[in-house]
Amino acid sequence: MEKMRRTAIDTAQAYGYQLVETPVFEQTPVFLRVGESTDIVQHERYSFTDVGGVDLTLRPEGTAAIARAYVENGLYNKPQPVRMCYYGPMFRREKPQALRYRQHTQFGAEIYGSVEPEADAEIILLACSVVEKVGLHSPVVRLNSIGCSECRPRYRESLIAYYEGRRSDLCEDCQIRLQTNPLRLLDCKIDVGIRSLAPDIKDYWCEDCRRHYGRLAELLSEAGREVVRDPYLVRGLDYYTRTVFEIGHPSLGDQTALFGGGRYDGLATTLDGPAATPAVGFGMGIERMLSAADKDFGLDRTLSVYVAHLPGYNTQAFIISEGLRQGQIAAEADLMDRSLKAQLRDASRRSHYVVIVGGQEWAEGSAAVKDLRRNEQKTVPVDELLDYFRRRD
Ligand code: HAM
Repeated sequence: MEKMRRTAIDTAQAYGYQLVETPVFEQTPVFLRVGESTDIVQHERYSFTDVGGVDLTLRPEGTAAIARAYVENGLYNKPQPVRMCYYGPMFRREKPQALRYRQHTQFGAEIYGSVEPEADAEIILLACSVVEKVGLHSPVVRLNSIGCSECRPRYRESLIAYYEGRRSDLCEDCQIRLQTNPLRLLDCKIDVGIRSLAPDIKDYWCEDCRRHYGRLAELLSEAGREVVRDPYLVRGLDYYTRTVFEIGHPSLGDQTALFGGGRYDGLATTLDGPAATPAVGFGMGIERMLSAADKDFGLDRTLSVYVAHLPGYNTQAFIISEGLRQGQIAAEADLMDRSLKAQLRDASRRSHYVVIVGGQEWAEGSAAVKDLRRNEQKTVPVDELLDYFRRRD
């Protein structure tokens, strides 16, 4: 988990994003802006009233909290764009199941101040880059545009007309969606036959939306990312405008995204920000990333030196490891009274180097030192061990 956190934040910082920490709870109205018809607002909210009568909510997601912080701290007065990232727990009152938790961890990044598709592209490239750094190769980006306030209403009308004609065939949820949030009809995993003939928003995009989508897709493929347009991708949060995207992973099944996000040019305005505050970002599920990640990735090799010993040399190994630590070299010795073979197995999982205390080398005032990454072995005089590792660390 810690390695994932470092990888995500280091990658974002290399892209120029500043780590921002917002509180774990906010006043409830902040999250109501996500959209009254979204699941996380309607029935997945952990809300409570404090002793002073203030209505608070454990954050179900980071975007509204970052928007609140952007507005409250007047960040729109700073040179734009403003790039921010965050990492921390999110809370959703969902039915707990595999990779869908009531408390999950999200890494997210947001860019404020740019309307250009280059900002959308940068955000997606950053997310893909984190995915690759944990050993997941060639993520395929599912991309769509849900239009803007100019073209979406026309699409919405056609969609309603199409689904109204098939109302009696719709599942129970879709009957409700038809009233509350028609775009989410496309998200239904049950009525897939009906949606396959539904109108496609692409045919309704206004000129600006078409240009935005085209340029974004072009930038991503120029950057070597595989992109597929998913006409059914609408995302479950109401604040999106134009770009929406998700990435999955074969090991998670096709209903479970590693990360998702999009553009949300109106959210900060609803939180009393300036009239035009463009923004785009993503949120990434850390538990899902860990589940899909390369098996080697989770191993945190911060512990550099493992001082193993032959039978009878426990004390010497213990003292050498303490000497290395005093010299600021991360080191450990066996605390389990294990055989040399078991110690070496343990070392191979957690260390860069292993020192073997005992045997012929020890009789000559030295120890065998194995470099586990390069698979090399050397004999080093015991009183030079600290210098040896200082030169190498
Ligand atoms: P979201 O799709 O709701 O978007 O969540 C983002 C990611 O968090 C998901 O792709 C998934 O990996 C993870 N996630 C969500 N819920 C759970 C859960 N119950 N258990 C485990 N993992 C979960 C957002 O939250 C938006 N704020 C993303 C965004 C940022 N849009 C713009 N900027």
